[in-house]
Amino acid sequence: MCGIVGVIGRQDATQVLLKGLEKLEYRGYDSAGLYVNDQQGHDHLVRRVGRIAALEAAITPAVTGTMGIGHTRWATNGKPTEANAHPQRSSDDRFYLVHNGVITNAQALAAQYLPAVTLASDTDTEVLVQLVAAFVQSGTATVAAFKQALSLCEGSYACCLVDRLDPSHLYVGKNKSPLLIGQGDGFHVVASDALAMLDLTDQFIELKDGEVVTLTATTCRIETLAGEQRLREPITVTITDGAADKGPYPYYMLKEINEQPAVMRRLVTAYAPDAAAPVVDPALLKLLAAADRLYIVAAGTSYHAGLVGKPLFERLANVPTEVHLASEFGYHQPLLSAHPVFIFLSQSGETADSRQVLVAIQKQGFKSLTITNVATSTLAREADFALGLHAGPEIAVASTKAYTAQIAVEALLATALGQAKRVPAAASFDVAHQLSLAAAGQQAVLDATDRIHALATAMFEDTRDAFFIGRGVDHAVSLEAALKLKEISYVQAEGFAAGELKHGTIALITPGTPVTAFISDPVTAAHTRSNAQEVEARGGHVLRVATQSLAQPGDDLVVADLDAALTPLVTIVVGQLLAYFTSFDRGYDVDRPRNLAKSVTVE
Ligand code: AGP
Repeated sequence: MCGIVGVIGRQDATQVLLKGLEKLEYRGYDSAGLYVNDQQGHDHLVRRVGRIAALEAAITPAVTGTMGIGHTRWATNGKPTEANAHPQRSSDDRFYLVHNGVITNAQALAAQYLPAVTLASDTDTEVLVQLVAAFVQSGTATVAAFKQALSLCEGSYACCLVDRLDPSHLYVGKNKSPLLIGQGDGFHVVASDALAMLDLTDQFIELKDGEVVTLTATTCRIETLAGEQRLREPITVTITDGAADKGPYPYYMLKEINEQPAVMRRLVTAYAPDAAAPVVDPALLKLLAAADRLYIVAAGTSYHAGLVGKPLFERLANVPTEVHLASEFGYHQPLLSAHPVFIFLSQSGETADSRQVLVAIQKQGFKSLTITNVATSTLAREADFALGLHAGPEIAVASTKAYTAQIAVEALLATALGQAKRVPAAASFDVAHQLSLAAAGQQAVLDATDRIHALATAMFEDTRDAFFIGRGVDHAVSLEAALKLKEISYVQAEGFAAGELKHGTIALITPGTPVTAFISDPVTAAHTRSNAQEVEARGGHVLRVATQSLAQPGDDLVVADLDAALTPLVTIVVGQLLAYFTSFDRGYDVDRPRNLAKSVTVE
């Protein structure tokens, strides 16, 4: 996915766009560009491959304006080249467009409507801006041409359009990809994420799918593609801008790993049972209590958090629970129970794979809950219910505090649901105490950071591949620890069910292969230790991470005890730090690993 920004009505438009793009760089960083216009006949287009820094270096003092658009790209259609960078423009050089999303029928539209146009890029975005120009050339007014072009598009878009012949207006369109309008004193801004413009305003208008906005410095007209006007009041976004900077840490990821104990304690407070104002909507508990099966749907790290949530809901709320990869579920829906309820786990609340499932199950009349870190996100707004992670902005592409917050909220919700259903296991489960133990256990791991850094060096300094093994929730943690190492250090890491290793994959174990064994499940601890010995017998280099009550002499790291279903809250911090230091020591950009983006808003 990509990040887009727009501004109209400010003398410092270039700086507004650049600062906004810096805040959005987590959304993609293959190339960047901006277009500014001083509304007096002078304009500039600057695009560069690579990070925002490369774009900034190319901006001369002459590149000024009072309106403009900007873009930071995560390549989908077309390689990261300057020609494919946004803003894309029409052949007649009249229209400029930035776009986040994927127009899935772009080629068909080009063939049908642009047969004589020579496209200058490989992007779907250029087709859209060329369509607008073609419709205007045939006599249609700009906003009507914009609506006509958007109505032909299939797929997703959040886009900003400039008409060079009329720079007093900025045109905005939204469908499936996130986009907000910021309202300031005498100006408007546009952004994929409010974070980009928080230093200018906290008043934002949320856009819904299929809406088009015509902005001037002081007016904002929202309408549907069919021309029906919509009136909408701005919301106040309360992310404190300070929460979104690195502080004393070299990378956001290390800051966010260290924030986890505070997040646990914040969740205990945020979800503390309070008869006066129940935090969990009684209507949500009623809906969940009537469900005969829960379906947790997510992607990546959030999917791994769902794997930890499953036994929590089944044990504490006595409800069968399935966990599904969003990218699979939407197109190969399993046979559902009679009364399903869907739970979407998503840090960003914008993951397209997850959102397409939400759309599919809502068409079938099923109800849903989104658990997310972004209250204004698409999944939060479109589900029937939403619960917050209260983790604060998570900027690093590798998700850490959101993962543990998702598990904590699942535990809080499962307990509240079980208590509402009078499930004995829930009545005796002190979730607040468990999360307090988790916070303390996380802090103890953080206090051993230097030791973990040394272990990371010993285990992963020169390796090309690595394994993480465990059983039960330790298997779920192994999957997450492997993803952390893979995505920021590029080591081919694999999370594996410890008992499965001997059924084939152990053939990959050679002398020195690093294998990290998580041992926190009392039922299977002895078996996992046997599997670790099988690895060592073949020369593997095993790192054992055990909880206090299961620890044995020789274990490399011993972490605090807590309920066996919640040990991932603590053991994963070891995996996060192992990955962080491996990437850091290899000199990589820990926060912005290659090929990735923080929120994947394309399928
Ligand atoms: C996690 O480290 C990754 N960045 C990625 O797997 C992420 O968890 C996934 O894309 C889902 O994102 P979401 O939680 O915002 O839906």
